[in-house]
Formats: sequence, structure tokens, C-alpha cells
Amino acid sequence: MDLGLAGAFVAINGGSKGMGRAAAECIARDGANVAVLARTQGALDDTVAVLRDLGSPDPVGIATDLTNDVGVAAAFAQLRERWGMLHALVNAAGPVDVGIGGFAAIDDAEWFATFDIGTLSAVRCVRHALPLLRLAPWARIVNVSAHSVRRQSPAIVAYTASKAALTSVSKNLSLSLAAEGILVNTVSPGSFNSPGMRDYVLALPADRNADPDDLYDVMRIIDEDFGHPAHLRRAGDPVEIGPVIAFLISKCNTYMTGADVNVDGGSDF
Ligand SMILES: NC(=O)c1ccc[n+]([C@@H]2O[C@H](COP(=O)([O-])OP(=O)(O)OC[C@H]3O[C@@H](n4cnc5c(N)ncnc54)[C@H](OP(=O)(O)O)[C@@H]3O)[C@@H](O)[C@H]2O)c1
Repeated sequence: MDLGLAGAFVAINGGSKGMGRAAAECIARDGANVAVLARTQGALDDTVAVLRDLGSPDPVGIATDLTNDVGVAAAFAQLRERWGMLHALVNAAGPVDVGIGGFAAIDDAEWFATFDIGTLSAVRCVRHALPLLRLAPWARIVNVSAHSVRRQSPAIVAYTASKAALTSVSKNLSLSLAAEGILVNTVSPGSFNSPGMRDYVLALPADRNADPDDLYDVMRIIDEDFGHPAHLRRAGDPVEIGPVIAFLISKCNTYMTGADVNVDGGSDF
């Protein structure tokens, strides 16, 4: 399906790995110019090379920490200079090493750190991207939340709360931006075998018998640790979510806004 993204300008935070990267690759294949924002230069360079090979005319990697508003502002100023406008923003970065643990294990500092990357990173990007999105003839935003918002787990209370706040902001923005034709949706992944998930599985003791490359093993671990099974009984591969995000940010999406789309192998009981 031609999504009509050829020549569009798209920014994806967290686009150098996992689901953000999978979305970036899908969108590049359709001929869009793609900017990926993340902290690690090496992963950005690798991503940009792949996006160019896939057909993105002007891919760019911007090294920035999304918990720093000054850095985020500078990143979007750079895009304004380079492209002049943005058609779409995907907020895919999320907490990796914070916010995991039960209620008693998380102090104020960790709650703040979790909301900083889990909610405010997207808020900052929307704030600085909006003036650019308003200059484009059509514009879309996708925020990547989490299925744990619907299917709570006591083991990830802060992580999930930060994502619930993001889902709320997303819905609220869909309302306030509708009159301008800017469509805003949330995508809520289930368990995906991303690099972040891989690190979690690799850190487990050997007696958990988990192969990080085996989607069924990953699902078993997530179900044991967080009580999140899926009808399909396996974790997702990031490439399975890329096309969903690509559709939602495309011109082909003309009537979805304020939606929260589960991509979770069937785990919303
Ligand atoms: N994997 C799952 O099962 C799962 C389930 C539900 C929801 N989610 C959510 O889905 C999204 C994608 O997850 P994923 O597992 O695919 O991600 P991942 O493999 O952990 O990759 C995270 C990406 O975000 C970037 N990032 C992280 N912190 C950042 C920061 N402070 N500033 C700038 N960039 C930052 C990382 O690059 P650098 O480290 O180089 O900065 C990387 O590009 C996240 O929002 C996550 O919370 C994941």
C-alpha cells in the first residue's frame, strides 16, 4: 500500500532501536525523509545508513537526551532549518532502566525520572514540533504508550503510570488539535522483543532458561514476571508494529484520531 509518505518530513524519537527503529524503516521505505532522535551516536549513524539504503532521501540522526528541554528545542530548531516543516512526529522513546519495580521499591527520585522519560519526553517533543507541524499541509502525531495501562502489573507501577499519563495527554491533544487537522493517536504495544527487552532477558539468572531471540521464551518470562500473557503466546517482533505506526502518521489516515491502538498479540482481557 502506498501510504503517500514520499517526500514527507517525519521525526521519530527513540528511532534508533526497537519499535521506533522499525517504524523509521517502514516510513523510509515509503520515501519519507526521516529524522531519528536518541542519545547514542553510533546507533544513530547505523540507523541513518539503513534508512538511506531503504529509500529515505534525506535521513538524519540527531543526538539528544529527551529529558533535557534545551536539547530537544535545539533538535527541532535543527529540523526547522533543514526541512522548514514537519508532517509527522512519533514519540517512541520510553523508560528502560527506571520505573521497573513494585510500589515500595520506588522513591520520589525514581518516580520523577520515570515520568521524565515516560511522559515528559513526548510532551517536550510535541511542544517543539507543533510549530513545524502547523506549517505542513497535513500533520499527524503518534505516541507510543503501553498495554500495561489496561492490564496493570504491580511490578511496574511507575512505568505504567507514566504511560497512562502519556495516553491521557495524547487523547487530550487529539481534541485540541482536531480543528487544525492534526490527528493524534496512541499505539499501545504488548511485549516486544526490542533491544530494551533483550537486555532485560539477558540480565536474568541462567536458571530462568530464557533465550532472548525466542519470542515464546520472552513471552513466558514477561508473563511470569509481570502477569502479561498474550493470546498468540509469543512476544512481538518490532517489525510487526512498524506498519501500524506508519499508517497512523500517513496521509492515508484521514479519520482516526484520539484512538488507542493495541498491538499486543491479544492481551487486553
Ligand atoms: N518492548 C516492550 O515490550 C514494550 C512494551 C510496551 C511499551 N513499550 C514502549 O515502546 C517504546 C519503544 O520500546 P522499545 O522496547 O522498542 O525501545 P528500546 O529498544 O529500549 O529503544 C529505546 C529507544 O529510545 C531511545 N532513548 C531512550 N531513552 C532516551 C533518552 N533519554 N533520550 C533520547 N532517546 C532515548 C534509545 O536510544 P538511546 O538509548 O541511544 O538514547 C532507543 O532509540 C517505549 O516507549 C517503551 O516504553 C515497550
